[in-house]
Amino acid sequence: MKKLVVANLKMNLGLEAVQKYITTIKGQITNQLLVIICPSFPFLSLFKSAEYQLGSQNTFYKKDGNYTGEVSPSQLKSLGVKYIIVGHSERRLIFHETNKIINQKVAAVLKENLYPILCVGENKEQKLLHKTPVVIKEQLNEALKKIDQEMLNDVIIAYEPIWAIGTGLTPTPGEINSMGEFIKRVMSFEYNANNTRVLYGGSINQNNIKSIFSLENIDGVLIGGAAVNPDLFIETLNKIS
Ligand code: 13P
Repeated sequence: MKKLVVANLKMNLGLEAVQKYITTIKGQITNQLLVIICPSFPFLSLFKSAEYQLGSQNTFYKKDGNYTGEVSPSQLKSLGVKYIIVGHSERRLIFHETNKIINQKVAAVLKENLYPILCVGENKEQKLLHKTPVVIKEQLNEALKKIDQEMLNDVIIAYEPIWAIGTGLTPTPGEINSMGEFIKRVMSFEYNANNTRVLYGGSINQNNIKSIFSLENIDGVLIGGAAVNPDLFIETLNKIS
């Protein structure tokens, strides 16, 4: 199976910059990788291309109705979205998304036969107290409550330590690989999901992408800042091969 590169563009780029982004990356992406671009909602349809897959940074859990400002998994699906990031720490912290909401979103995404990219990760204090595995396991258990057994292998888990996002800091490759192994073990033993893909996200850059990408228990990366400038994004991807 191809390893994944997910570009989370967050709330960056306007129309002109998006158009430039698309022309810059065109023809530059190797088909050895499964690249998923997650732009802001208004630009999703501009990004439709055979070269990469389309992802969304968020969704609501209802299918339709009076929910001003929200977007549903079925609406996203109709635009060609296949992957939806759920439970990003910025959503948890800034928009107060609870584990219950995240659980409802995971279920709603799977119901449309789309792939949730479920983000989990500890904060700095939890890391210093050596609580990382406990925190991650609890986030997984809460987010995956009552999810149909046969759909669990479609859930992609992104391990994103909060203290590593946008800081230039990362865990060591050994620590990242151990967390990948731990998450796969939880998914296998507790959920009988033996094919779970685990991504790493947090300060991925040109210097560290190759060593993290090649880790045995890591199936890809979730890139923020290093994906926003299209030239730097391609340079970063080129470091993998
Ligand atoms: P950075 O790569 O900018 O640290 O962001 C990571 C992230 O939050 C991806 O979802």
